Amino acid sequence: MKNPLRHGIAHVVPAIFPLVVCAALFGSPSAQAQNAERLATQLCVACHGIHGDSKSPMFPKLNAQSQDYLVAQLKGFRQHVRGESDARSYMWAIASQLDDATVASLAEYYSQQQPTTGGTGDAALIAEGQKIFEQGLPDKGVPACASCHGAQGQGNGQFPRLAGQHADYLLRQIEVFQNGTRANAPVMSAVAHTLGKDDAKAVATFLQSR
Ligand code: HEC
Ligand code: HEC
Repeated sequence: MKNPLRHGIAHVVPAIFPLVVCAALFGSPSAQAQNAERLATQLCVACHGIHGDSKSPMFPKLNAQSQDYLVAQLKGFRQHVRGESDARSYMWAIASQLDDATVASLAEYYSQQQPTTGGTGDAALIAEGQKIFEQGLPDKGVPACASCHGAQGQGNGQFPRLAGQHADYLLRQIEVFQNGTRANAPVMSAVAHTLGKDDAKAVATFLQSR
């Protein structure tokens, strides 16, 4: 069996589905917020951790992630435009059960959680990564990541927070932007193509340490 968790999701999704429908019926803003929190604490928590502060690099952290970005990703999974294999295996089925109002309130919930700070890593790699993040590598055509992702990697609007994210998750995303399976963001695909393996490793190590 390729993906043991997948079997589990098939059971969890139908069980949680009535909660979504309930919120649609009693769709006041506070009922929506409660519904989002219930989904987050009963379903999403299994992979993304408590308050979205995931402990495994298999699963991205969602805490303090930009609200607009979260909405775009959940819709991207639902519409199958974010098509890398982990997205297909883990998020397509889940996102297909979420209506627009639920997507909006889940995004609001996670964007309001405390960010992760104080990660560690190899000091030389962190220093190299910080330079790439802040200044880019003009010789190789690598733009400064900070110009879109924010001076502290905190994200804003369509640009995701990268600070505090698992390095291995960030590296996998750079890879899937490069191989074209995550094709929902041409801008970021172009940036990814400028990054060599060592550059990507340094910048991911720096970001995880923030
Ligand atoms: C069975 C595990 C699992 C569950 C349950 C799960 N996810 Fe995910 N999620 C993943 C994986 C794995 C990825 C990374 C996919 C990839 O690499 O493309 C992901 C990615 C995401 C992303 C993209 C994050 C980013 O930085 O781009 C969002 C948003 C997300 N999930 C939200 C949710 C929400 C909301 C729920 C609950 C309704 C949920 N997930 C439940 C496994 C899960
Ligand atoms: C011109 C703007 C721009 C620049 C410069 C930029 N990015 Fe991005 N990046 C984006 C956008 C937009 C997204 C969101 C794509 C989406 O919606 O799927 C993104 C997404 C990402 C993601 C996926 C995050 C996640 O949670 O899945 C990673 C990793 C990333 N960028 C790394 C970098 C690195 C490293 C640099 C610097 C070398 C960089 N970016 C420079 C615009 C930019």
